[in-house]
Amino acid sequence: MQNQYNWPLWHWHFEASSICTLKCPRCPRTELPDTLVQTQLRLDFFEKNFDLPDSIKKITFCGDDGDPIYARDLIDIVAFFKERNPNVSITIITNGSYKDDIWWDKLGKTLNSQDEVKFSLDGWDQESNSKYRVNCEWDSIERGAKALRKSSSAVMGWDAIAFGFNQEHHAYMKSLAQDWGFDRFQLTKSTKFGSKYSHYNDDVNSILEPSAEFIPTGHRFERDITLLTNRQINNSEIIQANLAHLEYTRSLYQGNIVPLCFIGTKGMFVNSQGYFIPCCWIGNRYNHNGIQQFLKPEFNIQQQGLENVLNSTQWESFIAKFDSMKECSEKCAKNLVTEEYATSW
Ligand SMILES: C[S@@+](CC[C@H](N)C(=O)[O-])C[C@H]1O[C@@H](n2cnc3c(N)ncnc32)[C@H](O)[C@@H]1O
Ligand code: SF4
Ligand code: SF4
Repeated sequence: MQNQYNWPLWHWHFEASSICTLKCPRCPRTELPDTLVQTQLRLDFFEKNFDLPDSIKKITFCGDDGDPIYARDLIDIVAFFKERNPNVSITIITNGSYKDDIWWDKLGKTLNSQDEVKFSLDGWDQESNSKYRVNCEWDSIERGAKALRKSSSAVMGWDAIAFGFNQEHHAYMKSLAQDWGFDRFQLTKSTKFGSKYSHYNDDVNSILEPSAEFIPTGHRFERDITLLTNRQINNSEIIQANLAHLEYTRSLYQGNIVPLCFIGTKGMFVNSQGYFIPCCWIGNRYNHNGIQQFLKPEFNIQQQGLENVLNSTQWESFIAKFDSMKECSEKCAKNLVTEEYATSW
């Protein structure tokens, strides 16, 4: 396949679905309901465009607006990639609610030890988790996580965001994660709070905002990871691909940024409508990101096919100006992009 701009085909981030049953207050789907398009990617989209087993090493199913487990074909899509290359490393990030044990059992059997399922759980029971994960269903989360553990060798991560309401409970959440069979506990320090951005000074901020030690000083979220078991992905090939692309990208771009989208760090983003957008940061719908510039037929893989989209001459003007885009200059500033930064999701 022609790839004249050297897009890093080794890592893709698919928004399999922009559908979700939850209403987390700081999620773009809740903050920007007017421009939300609820849809999903189907198996045939992947069959037509992503039969690239020699190139793809890592796939992330997460998204900006929805949850991958609500994509009707998720298990079939995962099976499609794993059948072509069992070593491809798949990460699924989900709130975990409302799927039954049979579904989790089947997903678990489709995955292997190169894969990871991350459950976004900010509480320790129905009441506490609902403080941010509004409308979650704790019973199905617990049953689902346990069914997945039983059926799968995939790495399981409990991903919590540090909030005011949970900051005294991290140790208990970690112990619950261990009891349920999770392999990792991750604490994310988010920036979406009133003391960081004044527009977040609303009614819920007093419940959500943690003390300063749990808020990053910069603009990117920070993560602390505790390993709970020895089960970890063998990611040496992925790190190698990542570092090779870091070196190449540094040598190519002499401006003020080192664009992670040409390294592959976060995965090349494909949203639930099939638009290819270089990363999920600029793919979200907050105004300043200028998302509109990407919502054109030339960049829609459903309409044009992958090869045409990746090789569109329109990318030249994007590449010429991303130094001056706010998101790019904040997230991919040259001084930030160390080896550690460029190899962390
Ligand atoms: C839009 S969600 C999509 C995946 C899935 N629905 C979920 O929530 O895990 C993408 C990521 O944003 C994270 N997220 C949601 N609200 C956040 C917040 N206030 N601060 C930091 N990360 C947040 C989620 O935990 C998830 O890792
Ligand atoms: S679970 Fe994920 S997609 Fe759903 S509302 Fe919360 S952050 Fe958004
Ligand atoms: S913020 Fe800009 S430069 Fe950085 S990865 Fe996204 S599109 Fe690329």
